[in-house]
Amino acid sequence: MSGGSESRREAIIIIDSNDEIIGWDKYAEKLHGWRDVEIIGERIFKIIPTEYKSSFMSILENSRYCEKVEETEGLRVTKSGEIIYVNATIRPITDSEGNLSSIAIYETDISDQVNAKIKIFETEEQYKRLVECLSDGIVLIDTDYKVVLTNPALSDVLNLDENSIGKRFIDVIGREHFKVIQQNIEKLEENNRVDFELEFTSSEETKFLSIAFTPIKSMKGATKAYLGVFRNITEVKKLEEELIKAAKLESIEILAGGIAHDFNNILTIILGNLSLIKAIGSVKGKVLERIEKAEKAALRAKDLTQQLLAFTKGGSPIKRKTSIVNVIEESVTFVSSGSNVKIEVDIQEDIWGVEIDEGQINQVLNNLFINAQQAMPEGGKIWVKAENFEIDTEESGLALPPGKYIRIMVKDEGHGIPSDILPRIFEPYFTTKKNGHGLGLSTAYTIVRRHHGAITVESEPGRGTTFCVYLPSLGEYVEPEVKHPDAYYRGHGRILVMDDEDGILEMAGAILKKLGYKVDFACDGMEAIKKYKKSKKRRKKYDAVILDLTVPGGMGGRETIAKLLEIDPEVVAIVSSGYSNDPIMANYRQYGFAGTVRKPYRLGELGKVLKEVLTKNKE
Ligand SMILES: Nc1ncnc2c1ncn2[C@@H]1O[C@H](COP(=O)(O)OP(=O)(O)OP(=O)(O)O)[C@@H](O)[C@H]1O
Ligand SMILES: [Mg+2]
Repeated sequence: MSGGSESRREAIIIIDSNDEIIGWDKYAEKLHGWRDVEIIGERIFKIIPTEYKSSFMSILENSRYCEKVEETEGLRVTKSGEIIYVNATIRPITDSEGNLSSIAIYETDISDQVNAKIKIFETEEQYKRLVECLSDGIVLIDTDYKVVLTNPALSDVLNLDENSIGKRFIDVIGREHFKVIQQNIEKLEENNRVDFELEFTSSEETKFLSIAFTPIKSMKGATKAYLGVFRNITEVKKLEEELIKAAKLESIEILAGGIAHDFNNILTIILGNLSLIKAIGSVKGKVLERIEKAEKAALRAKDLTQQLLAFTKGGSPIKRKTSIVNVIEESVTFVSSGSNVKIEVDIQEDIWGVEIDEGQINQVLNNLFINAQQAMPEGGKIWVKAENFEIDTEESGLALPPGKYIRIMVKDEGHGIPSDILPRIFEPYFTTKKNGHGLGLSTAYTIVRRHHGAITVESEPGRGTTFCVYLPSLGEYVEPEVKHPDAYYRGHGRILVMDDEDGILEMAGAILKKLGYKVDFACDGMEAIKKYKKSKKRRKKYDAVILDLTVPGGMGGRETIAKLLEIDPEVVAIVSSGYSNDPIMANYRQYGFAGTVRKPYRLGELGKVLKEVLTKNKE
């Protein structure tokens, strides 16, 4: 016979009534390692592991009263100290008078089976622990789509726990969700795994789930069940959206920076020329109307560029002490012409002055007015109220330190904002409009924050919306500026204009001549310096120099002013740029400029700056 059947042979051990070994066959020798001469006379407990001794003793005790006792999965210790498993039959042997004389123990080695079983148990145990510890939810469903198994995490992800076991998956997860899952599970006929996402809505919330299903097959390859892994990726999704938003913002920044220069140059030429045409006294009536329309459109294009520029990192405001009255009036005029919405303005008489970037605050108000108009397509009323506003406690609920502010309230009677979207309206790109960019309020927010102010909103759907803009004030009244006609800015003197763009030079030249100045041109810093030196030598120094900040491939305004100051510390220079976000534009004085003019500019704007710097110089 083969060794296999031999190894299955029983080992036979005989012990006497004192538990001493008196018989030990060769299979016992093979199983336990001791030869008979080594073990005979020893007590049986020599082959029993200590921790098993009491169990074995009770089995032995039982055997004394029965015909036989089966010992299943008994433990033994071999000569080499190894623990082995045996199935044993223990039979009492009686003498002719029926007295117990000895006990026979027949052992079969079952170590291999038991070890295999232990391994399976351990593996199963490991898997069980694994499944229990996973933060992903796990569900096993059979081919009838009934729940067979769940893990604890599933209750967090899907609100399903072990109570769902035995129930139909469709009933516990809902018909709509089940449909999507079933469609994907059906794909498992061709694939070994399907991955998909599911928007899971319950009465309490909406979650985004990432789901994977894989079939569990029998040895023969038939699908027995489906194992699903559910992961809640709501947070990841949110983060992804934030990243996309950030990336979008970054792309605006790059785009804005890139187009600002070119675009503002083009607009300067358009707007400058339009203002020149208007300045020709004979332009009246229909022609003037057309020109004003073109000008208004160009101004909107300017606004759009500013809107984008406000997002760029350095978009610091170019601040000036002024009265808010002018700014409000300008926005109201800009927005209300040709509209079916009436704007009612109420400004406190002694309203405190502010130090602001008028262009930017204009933009804030324009954005609020335009939104209000759009909320009332059938027409309606906008109320604008400006008043002094003092904050004297840290707990004003406004995220502003105590101090003197002004508050500009813009109230409409439009369709209002539903409370669920209210928290999102200041996000860049958030829009509910078909043709909206979702930039209006985010720009307003950015600008107001950069002015160390705050913006709040209250809305009642169906009734209207109120925005409040808080701006730090000077705490004292500032006289509003009188709006002068362009002709008011006439002057005289010699002006040198430096710009790399011919169209700008030409247009600026025409404006300046119109205003009464004599003009000279330079296409970059080098040429400007050369011309300035020459004029100084001839004792016919330029009264003012207008320098473009950025000259691609040439010397720009910053270097030029530094050199000019060396030549003539009294040089009067104005910096001009389409990059209104360049810090030099906000802090022009630090660099030695006497004034700044933002491109695109018109006759009035250029004339005003010139008049200011020239008068100051004479004082
Ligand atoms: N006065 C208002 N009344 C009702 N809803 C408003 C009002 N102001 C803003 N909203 C809501 O806030 C959203 C965001 O406004 P925001 O000005 O930022 O972008 P937009 O107007 O949609 O587009 P854009 O201003 O860039 O053209 C709007 O789409 C609208 O849903
Ligand atoms: Mg808007």
